[in-house]
Amino acid sequence: MKNPQPKPTEERVTSFDYPIQHTIKLSKNIDPLPARFDEVITNRKSQRTFSGINLQQLSNILWYTAKVKQTFVQENGYILTHRGTPSAGARHPIDILIINQTLLNSNLPHCYNPFEHTLNRLDLSAQLVVNFIEHINAIVNTSNATIIWFIAHPERTEAKYENPESLIWRDTGALINAIQLTCTAVNVNCCPLGTLGEPYISDFFAYSGLFGVGGVAIG
Ligand SMILES: Cc1cc2nc3c(=O)[nH]c(=O)nc-3n(C[C@H](O)[C@H](O)[C@H](O)COP(=O)(O)O)c2cc1C
Repeated sequence: MKNPQPKPTEERVTSFDYPIQHTIKLSKNIDPLPARFDEVITNRKSQRTFSGINLQQLSNILWYTAKVKQTFVQENGYILTHRGTPSAGARHPIDILIINQTLLNSNLPHCYNPFEHTLNRLDLSAQLVVNFIEHINAIVNTSNATIIWFIAHPERTEAKYENPESLIWRDTGALINAIQLTCTAVNVNCCPLGTLGEPYISDFFAYSGLFGVGGVAIG
């Protein structure tokens, strides 16, 4: 495998518009983490049973792991961001989908907007979503869980680097780790899942080049 290398000239990235139906504003009153870091790193463990979480708990977890804390606008207009997780070149090529029928009054995936701290219900085919959830349930029972799924936008990293693929996979690992540690800190179970969620995720966003890069179940 070849090493990633910055391109001499960065390409432009066209923004992707999700098909948004409805927006939920998450609370920005974030609870401090109740556990010490030495307890968190010692107690972290993949747990495969889940119970319901509330919107405040989800808000806390997304805030600490994925919320944009600082932005830098490049000359070509690309917005570099700092968040709770590292990302190669600060490109953050992975967006987050949330599925929890009880919590969000719909089993449609909600896309997390890390700038606004909102969840945005996506107008996707209900049958495709059911097929995706069945695929996940064949691995671990998520009937009481919240599914957090990672969607790669490869062009964000490809625009800056030659041989970018491994950077996107390593960004996914960083997200898994940050989410699992944060869940441990707030006493919520979390299990990473080995499936990429394909072909379901690509089918959600047909012809766009987006694809699934795994996810976690929490609760
Ligand atoms: C990338 C990745 C994929 C994983 N996929 C699954 C999975 O599909 N099902 C599952 O039960 N556990 C999965 N796990 C959890 C591992 O099985 C778990 O991390 C391992 O057994 C070690 O246990 P621990 O996390 O409690 O230390 C995955 C972990 C990672 C990092």
